[in-house]
Amino acid sequence: MSEEKTAKIFIEGKEIELPVIVGSEGETAIDIRKLRTGYGYTTYDPGYGSTGSCQSSITFINGEKGILRYRGYPIEELAENASFEEVTYLTIYGELPNKKQLADFNAKLNSYDSIHEDMKKFFENFPLSAHPMAILSSLITALSTFNPTSDKIEDREEDILRLIAKVKTLSAYAYRKSQGLPFIYPRDELTYVQDFMSMMWRKSNSAKYEINPVLEKAINVLLILHLDHEQNCSASTVRMVGSSQGNVYTAVAAGVAALWGPLHGGANQKVLDMLKAIQDDGGDYQKYIDMAKDKSSGFRLMGFGHRVYKNFDPRATILKKAADGILKELNIQDPLLDIAKNLEKIALEDDFFVSRKLFPNVDFYSGIIYRALQIPEEMFTVMFTLGRVPGWLAQWRESREDPHFRIHRPRQIYTGPTERHFVAIDKR
Ligand code: ACO
Repeated sequence: MSEEKTAKIFIEGKEIELPVIVGSEGETAIDIRKLRTGYGYTTYDPGYGSTGSCQSSITFINGEKGILRYRGYPIEELAENASFEEVTYLTIYGELPNKKQLADFNAKLNSYDSIHEDMKKFFENFPLSAHPMAILSSLITALSTFNPTSDKIEDREEDILRLIAKVKTLSAYAYRKSQGLPFIYPRDELTYVQDFMSMMWRKSNSAKYEINPVLEKAINVLLILHLDHEQNCSASTVRMVGSSQGNVYTAVAAGVAALWGPLHGGANQKVLDMLKAIQDDGGDYQKYIDMAKDKSSGFRLMGFGHRVYKNFDPRATILKKAADGILKELNIQDPLLDIAKNLEKIALEDDFFVSRKLFPNVDFYSGIIYRALQIPEEMFTVMFTLGRVPGWLAQWRESREDPHFRIHRPRQIYTGPTERHFVAIDKR
């Protein structure tokens, strides 16, 4: 007989007994849904570090042990063996596809990956200096004007496929725009990653383009590693916007905006800035370590630390190893890789970082790989987005099917003035 767990809170002479929910990996959560309506109390958790915002069966992370699994499959196995399309399918629908399911899925994506010719005109009016994340966020919102949608389940499913397909094309076009290059049409005979590469680097629509398998494998792994990461800032943003039942294009555009920030996906671009600054300073690591330890400097070691991982980020471990292999295969010697490794070593011997359990995160080594693939720095966070879009859509889809679905609306603890009365302007 299983004993139902409960939690008891003693407050202002009252005892409140609350139910407890246990997840499939044994994670225990106190169900506080009735705390406000039943007893008038609110919880306080800025940044939501101790708050479970939903029940989800997509991604499991154990931050203490450095575990990341999509739908139960270890990230290491997926990164080593699977294609981005397979992991996309798995994340959204819950199971790895068989051959027919994958072929149908790819055919659907192919049917949606072109961009309406009128939409391309938007690109003409952005300045050349426009950050591609701004372009991407704007154009994903613009997609909703070309694809009016309803909240019917059939529409939702098609919108998911449409977004995954079109983000590939829009991401490549954001790059082409920044380089002043003409747009390349998507091609059905190529895989998702190959087609993205073709739209990025093919000289013209009629030109031949040889897919470099080292680059292809590297991009496939990077996209898989970025695909989902449970209730992070951007996924929560997508769920938040989606919770008002607005259309999915605007929810995903908001996810892009959230991911762009330097504390989230924008860190990959900032890591390179930091490594270059260390190089320009003649390898003065200690200066940057000291700055990161000095709270008044406003500087943080970019690509270090994580809300959930308090051991190592398994994605960073995969990428550190991959960076060595990719640079070797491409015959590139990048001094920034050595700088990154030295910086990691020095930080991990420093009590400030050790005691706070700050380790390299996914962004620490990804930039070095993107650089080796000749992807410009402004595009680093776009690459992250390309990988993450299916994850956001899986989260959005799950939230729309959630029996506990409600609009997201946190409470607050008001600390402003108590009631006071209006004073006419000549008396103030
Ligand atoms: N450099 C220096 N100190 C740090 C760093 C860092 N990178 N990260 C955290 N700390 C310190 C904080 O100052 C704090 O110290 P204190 O306890 O003495 O006050 C302690 O470590 C805990 O930090 P928090 O900010 O409370 O941790 P939080 O979970 O809120 O933040 C975050 C996580 C945003 C990732 C943070 O570690 C950070 O800013 N890292 C640098 C940016 C970065 O790499 N972001 C990418 C994250 S991965 C991703 O989003 C894809």
